[in-house]
Amino acid sequence: MQEDVRPESMERITTPELAEAFIEEQLKALREQIGDKKVLLALSGGVDSSVVAALLIKAIGKQLVCVHVNHGLLRKGEPEQVIQVFRNEMQANLIYVDATDRFLDLLAGVTDPEQKRKIIGKEFIEVFAEEARKLEDIRFLAQGTIYPDILESKAGIKAHHNVGGLPEDLDFELVEPVKLLYKDEVRVVGKALGLPDNMVYRQPFPGPGLGVRCPGAITRDRLEAVRESDAILREEFAKAGLAGKVWQYFTVVPDFKSTGIKDGKRTFDWPCIIRAINTIDVVEVTPEYLPQDLIETLVRRITTEVSGINRVLVDYTPKPPATVEYE
Ligand code: XMP
Repeated sequence: MQEDVRPESMERITTPELAEAFIEEQLKALREQIGDKKVLLALSGGVDSSVVAALLIKAIGKQLVCVHVNHGLLRKGEPEQVIQVFRNEMQANLIYVDATDRFLDLLAGVTDPEQKRKIIGKEFIEVFAEEARKLEDIRFLAQGTIYPDILESKAGIKAHHNVGGLPEDLDFELVEPVKLLYKDEVRVVGKALGLPDNMVYRQPFPGPGLGVRCPGAITRDRLEAVRESDAILREEFAKAGLAGKVWQYFTVVPDFKSTGIKDGKRTFDWPCIIRAINTIDVVEVTPEYLPQDLIETLVRRITTEVSGINRVLVDYTPKPPATVEYE
C-alpha cells in the first residue's frame, strides 16, 4: 500500500513520457496488490474515476467491475459516452444502472437545497451498494481519490471517500492509484491512457449534477430544459473556442415564469440563466464576459430549441457575493 504523503522527490507529471513512466509503475503495483481478486469501481465519467478505470482495465482487465449509476441528473450524452468509451472501446466489465426514476421520485416536491443534496448522496450510495451486493468475490474498492482530497481530508475540510460511507457489510480494501497526483497530473495520465479529450479536460461538475441547476423542486420538464440548454451552451462554447479556456460554464432554469410572445401568441415560460466563470481556487470567482455574437446565438438557439424557455439571462456576478452554483 502506498503512503498518503507525496514524497518531496516526486516529480510533477507534466509530459507524456512522465505519464507513461507513472502508468508502468502503477500497472506493476496494481497487479501486485490485486493479484487475481476482483475490484469494484463507481465510474461517474468524471476525470478521476475515468483515469482510475482506464488504469485498472489495463492492469487487470475483466477483474475490474465498473458500476455507472445514472441518477437522472447527468448532462446530455454523458451515460452514453461512459458506455461507449469503457464498454465498447475498452471492453470493460461495466454495469450500467439507470436509476433516474428512483432519484426523481424521491426528489419530487423537495425544495430545500440541503435536503436535495442529502437525498441524492444517500440514494447514490444505496444504488451502488445494491449493485455491489449482487456481485460475488469482490475484495477491493477502487476510488478516484486525488492528492487535494487527501490534503483536505487531513485538514478536516472534507471526507475524501468519493463513494461516501458504504454500509458496514461492504467491507472492501481500497485501491487508490492516483491518490498522490494533482488534478493536472491526472489529466496528463488520462491523455496518455487514450481517454477522449472531452473526458480528460472536462469542466468540474458537481456530484448532485443538474439537480443544483434546477433550483427548488425538480420537475422532469424543467430538468430537461436545463439539460438541453446546457448541451447547446457547451456546443456553442466549443465552436467559439472557449471550451478549454473558461473554467466552468452551465445553464440554470429557475422555478418562475414570465410572459413572452411566440408566433403572435402569448407564452408564459421559464427563463434560462447562463453562468460562465473563471477561478483559481473556487474561493473567489470572476465572470467570463461573453462575446456579443455568442450571446446572440445562445439567445436565439435556446429560445427556439428548448421547450419551455422564452427568455435568456446572463449572470455576471462574481463570487463573493454569489456562489458558483445556485443551490
Ligand atoms: P460553489 O457553488 O460552492 O461551487 O461556489 C464551487 C465549485 O464546487 C462545485 N460544487 C460541487 N461539487 N458536489 C461537488 O462535487 C457538490 O455538491 C458541489 N456544489 C458545488 C461547483 O460546481 C463549483 O465548481
